[in-house]
Parts: sequence; C-alpha cells; structure tokens
Amino acid sequence: MSDQSRDTIESLSHEDRTFPPPAEFAARAQIQEAEYRRLLALAETDYERFWAEQAQAELQWIQPFTRTLNDREAPHYQWFEDGLLNVSVNCIDRHLPDRANKPAIIFEGEPGDTRRLTYAELLHEVVRFANALRGRGIKKGDRVVLYMPMVPEAVIAMQACARIGAIHSVVFGGFSGDSLRDRINDAEASAVVTADGGFRSGRVIELKAVCDRIIGDCPSVHTVFVLKRAGNPVTWSPARDIWWHEAVAGAGADCPPVAVGAEHPLFLLYTSGSTGRPKGIQHSSAGYLLGTILTMRWVFDIRPDDVFWCTADVGWITGHSYVAYGPLAAGATLLMYEGAPMVPDPGRYWQICERHKVSVFYTAPTAIRALKKQGDDYPARYDLSSLRLLGSVGEPINPEAWMWYHTHIGHGRCPIVDTWWQTETGAHMIAPIPGVSTLKPGSCGRALPGIMADIVDNKGDPVGAANTGGFLVIKRPWPFMLRTVWRNPQRYIDTYWKEFDGRYYVSGDGAKRDADGYFWIMGRVDDVLKVSGHRLGTMEIESALVAHSRVAEAAVVGRPDELTGEAICAFVVVRGTRPSGPDAEALTQDLRQWVSEHIGPIAKPAVIRYTDNLPKTRSGKIMRRLLRAVAAGEPITQDVSTLENPDIIRQLQGD
Ligand code: WT7
Repeated sequence: MSDQSRDTIESLSHEDRTFPPPAEFAARAQIQEAEYRRLLALAETDYERFWAEQAQAELQWIQPFTRTLNDREAPHYQWFEDGLLNVSVNCIDRHLPDRANKPAIIFEGEPGDTRRLTYAELLHEVVRFANALRGRGIKKGDRVVLYMPMVPEAVIAMQACARIGAIHSVVFGGFSGDSLRDRINDAEASAVVTADGGFRSGRVIELKAVCDRIIGDCPSVHTVFVLKRAGNPVTWSPARDIWWHEAVAGAGADCPPVAVGAEHPLFLLYTSGSTGRPKGIQHSSAGYLLGTILTMRWVFDIRPDDVFWCTADVGWITGHSYVAYGPLAAGATLLMYEGAPMVPDPGRYWQICERHKVSVFYTAPTAIRALKKQGDDYPARYDLSSLRLLGSVGEPINPEAWMWYHTHIGHGRCPIVDTWWQTETGAHMIAPIPGVSTLKPGSCGRALPGIMADIVDNKGDPVGAANTGGFLVIKRPWPFMLRTVWRNPQRYIDTYWKEFDGRYYVSGDGAKRDADGYFWIMGRVDDVLKVSGHRLGTMEIESALVAHSRVAEAAVVGRPDELTGEAICAFVVVRGTRPSGPDAEALTQDLRQWVSEHIGPIAKPAVIRYTDNLPKTRSGKIMRRLLRAVAAGEPITQDVSTLENPDIIRQLQGD
C-alpha cells in the first residue's frame, strides 16, 4: 500500500461526523429499513435465489432463464445463461405506451441549445439508426466503435447497437488518434460512429479529423457514420463515410429487436491497468443491465418523476451504467449536458439544475473540488430546491469537499451517496442506501445486498479487525461483473483472480472497514493513477514517453493534488546529456505535447524532471516508493545505499 494511501486514511480516521437520513427523505424512500434487511438476509442465506429473484422481477425476458449461475468454468462465470432478452427493449419499449410522451432525454449543448426526446421519440431514433447500421451490413456480434461528443446520438447509437446485438465500444472523445486506433484494431470494429465535432470548453473538438488521421490503419473498418453537430468543415471519403442524417433518412421505422443470450456481450470498454495496453473489459447483456437497474433504485432511489443527471461522459463506465442504460431502464428522465462545468462560468452546473429541475445529481469529487474553489456565490445564485439526492464517484471524496457539497448544493437536505465501483464491476458495489444509511463523509458505506466485499491481508486472509487496512476483494461472483478481457482470457485471470489463487476478485484498491462495517477506500495499490477521477496506467504513460526520440528511460508516479486527486509526475532520462535551462523547458513542452498526442490531454504529465538515471533496486526494479516520496516532496525514508549514484536523489528532487 502506498504511503499516500496511508496518509489519506490517517486523515480520514479523524472524521467522526455522521448524517442520518433526513426524516422526510426516509419516509418516501423506496428501500426502507425492513426491505433492506430482507434483501441482505436473503442474499446471505440463498445467494443464487436472491439474484434469480432480482433478475426475474427487474428484466423483461424473451425467454426466461432456468439456470442462475454457472461456475463450471470459473472464474469465467455465467449468469442466467439460457435466458434470452434484448437490452434496448428493456430500456425503451418496456415504457411504451404508458410513458410515450414522457421525456426520456433532456439535452443541453454547451452553446446553450436544448432538445427533448420523449420515450416514443427515442424509440423512433434508435430504430432508425439500428436500421442504418443494418443497412451497412452490421449484424449481431459485430463491433462498433463510438467516438462521439456528449449528445443524445451517443446514447441512441449505443441503444441501436443493443437492439441488433452489435457490440459497442465507446472511446472517450478526449483520447488521441493513437488511442482510438489501438482500440478499434483490438476490437476489430467494422464501423465507427463519430461526429464532425463537439463543443467543449468553448472550442470545437474535431472528432472526424482525428478519425481521418488513423482510419487508414484500421483495416477492419468499412463504414464511418458522421453526425453533424458542430458544423465544422470535414474531409470526406465517399466509399466509407456516411452522414448520420442521410443514413437514417432512408431507414425504416421498424426494427424488430434481436433476441440475444443473457451472456451475449453488450459492450467492450477499454481501461488502463498496471501492465500492458488498455484492456477491453467485456460486459454481458442481462447481468450488466440488472446491476444498473437495481442500483438506480437502491442507491439513487429513482422514481418516475425524477430528472436524473450524471455528469460523466459516455466514454467512461459511469456514462454507460448511469447515462446510456440505467436511467432509461428505470424509466426516468435523463439529463445530458455536452460541455465543461466552467462554461461560460462556474455556475453552469447549477444553472442547468435550476433550469431543468434536476432532482438527482451525480458527479466526481474532482468536479466538486474545482467548483468549490470558485466560491459559494455561484451555487447561491440558483434555485437548487429541485435537488433531493447527490452522488459522488471515481475517487475518495475528502470530507471538506463532502461538507461543501452537502451544505452549498444539497442545502443540508440531500443525502450524498458516495459510490464505490469500477469499470470491471459494472455498477455500484459499496454505497449507502439513502433512506436507510447514516452517512459518514469520506466513507462509501457498506456493501450492497448480494455483494460480498471483504478486506484481506497479503496472504488472502480476512483482516477481521476493524480499521485494519488491506486489499479490497469480492468473495463471490455477481451478475454485473466483467466477463473477460476481450480476446484475452488469460489476462482476465492474471489481472483479477491470480493474486489469491482464484478465491476472490481482486479490485486493486486498498481499504479498511470501521467498527460499523463502513468501507473507507485508500486508493489503488497497483500502478494505476486516478487523475481527475480518470484511470491511467503509469506504464502506458512511460511507454509514450520512451517512444520519443530523445527519451531513453522514464518512470511515472502520482503525486497528491488538491484539485485532481493525483497529478502525473514523470522522471526522465534522456539520450546524451541531461538537459537543463531553456533546453529542458523546451523539451518539457515537447514531451507534454507528445503524451497528449499519443494518449490524450488527460495523460499530460504535470511535472517532468530530468535525471542521469532512475533509482533502481539491485534486481533492476524502479524504486517507485522512493519516486513517490520525491514527487510529493516528502523526506526520504527508504534505504538508498544500493543506489549506484547517490547524487541522483538531489537531481530527482529537482535541485
Ligand atoms: C477506481 C475505478 C466507478 C466508475 C468511475 C471510475 C476508484 C471509484 C470510488 C469511490 C473511492 C473510488 C477506485 C476504483 N473509485 N469510486 N467512491 N471512493 N475510490 O471507474 O475508472 O474503473 O476506476 O476508481 O480506485 O478502483 P474506473
């Protein structure tokens, strides 16, 4: 466990404020104490029956399942395997005709344009785009990569894939061309869906232009659908490119949903790990959807009259589970905002909450900290009385940010659900039940019913005692877990199951549990960074750096940062003489740009330091703990007697 994690937990240990559910909220909550206890007890006594009942009650099946869990090929678990369903039917058709005129999506673009789509209109759009995909020969099992701005068509395209059983893989629009190309090629996608551009931070992000640069290196792609959004000029390849509006113009208004098996992959989503290239996390259809629906009710207490706003981009898992699928499956109204929180000023989020009467708001600690820094005046200008529940996700929320969120956004009236989960887990795993749980700022509460979370030591034995740190593991498979790493089952086993001989799913996080059974997440225990809640592998950034002609070696570590949680700090050894002065400054500029082009702007190192060599152990392993201490400006406590050149400590420290 890193020193930084220990410090986080040290400071959190002093947190003893508690917030019981407000009486008014508790009285109306969908999950009340008795129901919560019943769910917990049933999951304890009859695990498979518990999940079978949930899956029968919450999903519309075309053919019901008869087997709940198949563990014969563990850890490649299968859930509800002989059932047949269609995910888009479960998100849209099931609400018709009852909710035909209810808004499914309220959209606000960064420039201020707005759009509303009712459930009936959403179905119409999904069906037409599904037919457009079919018109280009896309069929069940084919992969479709999305590289889109945060506009309704992103959700429409995902739902359209689900309708025909195509497997989507969304690539965050902030990733570079190289990242896009690698993901397209790993997935062997037949088609890409993109836009001319999207509006972000007052600029046009030219997505089609990025696609054009790499598409020649993606032999599997025969079609690129292009949504006209920003109106910026684009270049065109008539054999391959087709405008969205032209593709749907001739498409039929009827598209029978394709029945898929419960285990049919709904999507791949690439995410970073501590080794190798980003891996394609493969999720199922039925189990995954079940997780999103249940947590919409258990954790977000969702009701038909809610306007639900999750600020995450569809390029991340949060934007899958709580933008594209969960809110629709739950029949809520989904708010989508295209742009950045500070445009035109830091009141934008609160203005949107007022304008569209948002009732449940879900965002990341990094956004809360950034908005808090702008002062209390911005939220004070807006009527936030429609809000009734707030959520947090992506990294531990520090108690100060929690208190600000609670006071200035929730006006002391709204519970805050701090939700712990991962790309791999599909949906919330550890989170409060807002009408039941007493909240502790900085803790994500107890594990949800049916989720067997525990903390173990490095031998895999449960630590047992309260407040003892260890590895956060999940002891039993759950329906919304990842199924495998796309076309790499061995990597799935090695990454998530090997550490404790297949006994547990290993999350990669450190945590402790207090005497009340509340989990306190201490951060990653592997070489994964969380920068503004985004997940980045140190190795990926190192590989990008060493691909530069002047770089011989590089080591990347995280440094605590007040706003972004962690900041990227790179130690670089160049070929030839160690740069200094203006040469070092120019190279730093160049390397930051380089990383941005290779991975994306989110991966740009905040600090680059040049050194003659990297501190290594006798066996040649980079001393990352030492580098983390140096990056954080902490005193060095490690044994450095094995260093070949003790002077490098001073170089590393930037003297
Ligand atoms: C990692 C997963 C889950 C969707 C967004 C991130 C960290 C996530 C919390 C939380 C403390 C959290 C963990 C986890 N994390 N939520 N509420 N409290 N840490 O998904 O990119 O797959 O990252 O985010 O370190 O392992 P992801």
